[in-house]
Amino acid sequence: MTRIAVIPGDGIGSEVIAQARKVLDIALPDHDATEYDLGAARYHRTGEILPDSVQAELDQHDAILLGAVGDPSVPPGVLERGLLLKLRFDFDQYVNLRPSRLWPGTTGPLADVKPGEIDLVVVREGTEGLYAGAGGSLHTGSSAEIATEESLNTRYGTERVIRDAFNRASRRERKHLTCVHKANVLTYAGDLWRRTFAEVATEFPAVTTEYQHVDAAAMYLVTRPQDFDVVVTDNLFGDILTDIAAAVTGGIGLAASGCVNPDHSHPSMFEPVHGSAPDIAGRNIADPAAAILSVSLLLEQLGRGDAATAVSDAVAEELAGRTPAEPVDTTATGDRVAERVSRILG
Ligand code: NAD
Ligand code: IPM
Ligand code: MN
Repeated sequence: MTRIAVIPGDGIGSEVIAQARKVLDIALPDHDATEYDLGAARYHRTGEILPDSVQAELDQHDAILLGAVGDPSVPPGVLERGLLLKLRFDFDQYVNLRPSRLWPGTTGPLADVKPGEIDLVVVREGTEGLYAGAGGSLHTGSSAEIATEESLNTRYGTERVIRDAFNRASRRERKHLTCVHKANVLTYAGDLWRRTFAEVATEFPAVTTEYQHVDAAAMYLVTRPQDFDVVVTDNLFGDILTDIAAAVTGGIGLAASGCVNPDHSHPSMFEPVHGSAPDIAGRNIADPAAAILSVSLLLEQLGRGDAATAVSDAVAEELAGRTPAEPVDTTATGDRVAERVSRILG
């Protein structure tokens, strides 16, 4: 029996996860799901963010499915750092996998790009960089305040994520890997990334390589996103670039992700790229596609390739049938996609 921990979280997190679970129930009948009520409500009720005992329980699962955390009633960062980033770091989810495709039937904002033409995956480093929490503040609150935020980069951390990206690129048709950093300004980290990239590249002669500064990469993602195959980049650059990649492929409501621990020393976690969207929460209009596609990534990671493909094919059918101007009905979408998965798997 596969054990899945489910953290619906805040805002639209619980709305989209309810749909993802309908699909998971059909696609992976032999699983056992345990839901955890982590997030803003529990924080207000008990003061707890992620108790050690809960973290130890999560660690006993084969995978984690998460909706979103963060709420306007909680100071920024408390839940994001205390729950989401803590899990990514403690569970060593160093590959933050963020694929973007312009699905058939989906209209992106770019007039000259046709469905099928964008198919890229960002391998975002998940356990280092500016997210490490190294820094501090002096004279806080005074006019002399100084705040520092340091980017932590290790050879070990850089090399393992770059090697993972090369492996992924070598399994794809175009076999092209772009390393994105800001080596013209971030002297030390940029140099470490570029040297490590060049060294690991020698192990993968079949993969063509390229380096781009992050500002240029952001521009190319908008002007010629078709050219990207696999991108490997630092934690913060990857965060920003994947929102751009989502925007050019039909929006954040379609963007899935996996916080992957390739070594299986702890569970991997699958979550939509989007947040808790307090502006639309409670209205049943959040697009559950990103959460459902995250289930597909989860199934892939568990070695259930057929079920993973059934789920992404079912979402593709759903998207192809959409009328662009019509608002999304969250629960009806979940029902339809689950039915489609059931039909596809026969
Ligand atoms: P957001 O992704 O929640 O929302 C940005 C915009 O996208 C909003 O207009 C929202 O309505 C829209 N949107 C997001 N998901 C959608 C969906 N499925 N369907 C339709 N529209 C959707 O980002 P934000 O507003 O910057 O952050 C809100 C909260 O979420 C903050 O507390 C933030 O820290 C948190 N957050 C959490 C995660 C996560 O848990 N992984 C990710 C990003 C943001
Ligand atoms: C994401 C989010 C998170 C991140 C936040 C909420 C910590 O923006 O998953 O993209 O920056 O990684
Ligand atoms: Mn983000």
